[in-house]
Amino acid sequence: MSTNMSLSEISWADFQALSLLEKGAYFQGTPPHTLIAQQFTRAKLDELCTLATRIKRINKRREGANYLKTLLSDKRAMLYFAQPSSRTYLSHNAACQILGLDTMDVRDSKTSSEVKGESPEDTIRTFSSYADMIIMRHPVGGFAERVAWMLAHTNREIPVLNAGSGADQHPTQALLDVYTLERSFEKIGGIDGKSVVFVGDLARGRTVRSLAWMLTQYKDVTLYFVAPESLQIGQDILDLLDAAGTNYVVTQDFTSIMPIADAIYMTRIQDEWDVAGQGRTTGSSDYHIGAEDMHLLKDTTAILHPLPRREEISTDIDNDPRAVYWRQMRNGMWIRAALILTTFGRQDEANKYYDDYKPAS
Ligand code: NCD
Repeated sequence: MSTNMSLSEISWADFQALSLLEKGAYFQGTPPHTLIAQQFTRAKLDELCTLATRIKRINKRREGANYLKTLLSDKRAMLYFAQPSSRTYLSHNAACQILGLDTMDVRDSKTSSEVKGESPEDTIRTFSSYADMIIMRHPVGGFAERVAWMLAHTNREIPVLNAGSGADQHPTQALLDVYTLERSFEKIGGIDGKSVVFVGDLARGRTVRSLAWMLTQYKDVTLYFVAPESLQIGQDILDLLDAAGTNYVVTQDFTSIMPIADAIYMTRIQDEWDVAGQGRTTGSSDYHIGAEDMHLLKDTTAILHPLPRREEISTDIDNDPRAVYWRQMRNGMWIRAALILTTFGRQDEANKYYDDYKPAS
């Protein structure tokens, strides 16, 4: 991934034939796009986590917050969310506000000219006429990549940030998950060497698919995938883990794994992807964690969930210090601010401010 390739110099057919790792090299150019988990290296993840914490600290004081708002005050972002979203939409919007970036949004394709028969490509080109960045969520897997490729073939290529595409990728969620794990394990050596257990609908949970790969960037991690057979993690992800030399275990036995887990990543059943007539799932997960299980866990185990949850985590553990899913949600705002600032290449300014003023933690 050392040489940056240009999306404007490759045909769509040739681009689609690339592996995920090969595609990553096409997203690091000018402007950089954030489209898939596989474009992130360990160095980049460390850089973003450090910057997120610095932004958070600078923001604590009013002078710092005012300073942050100058960093991208000359930019505008388009939030295009063609799928339901609360946290991802709000945290991106809040991240933009922290950096002084104005936002506009379309949250329902029915309110855009797509209902008049406009192609999605023309709609996106319209957005790029008014905005300097597109943050988008779309039900069609790969559509964000198509948007980036398409913009690279216009005279206004602006960065595209994938805020969830199909059942496949959710790279910014994986970033906030990594950041949450890093912070949770701050005093016990970071993510390296840890056991991370994924539970629930792993076949169609795009957050798991993105995060599992990102964790290959850490040393000696072991990943456990706990799900009923029909909802197990895809072979494509296991192939990527094999290629990266990351250890993993595929199982249906949650109880025996609980005591060795350093992190448990619960997910809901993704039944919006059910195909009519196939009767693949019910609305609730076979797997659950509640007060009765907490004695099985280590004192340092972190329980994560991308949210929204259904019944897979009881509300009665919400105030246990090991339940980090609310903090995880707030972390999303800081790491997305770090990502957006880096996308515009202005991270050095925030780093300099931090070094000059050393805000307290
Ligand atoms: C996730 C998503 O949209 O994939 N939500 C989120 O972004 N926090 C997970 C989910 O919907 O289950």
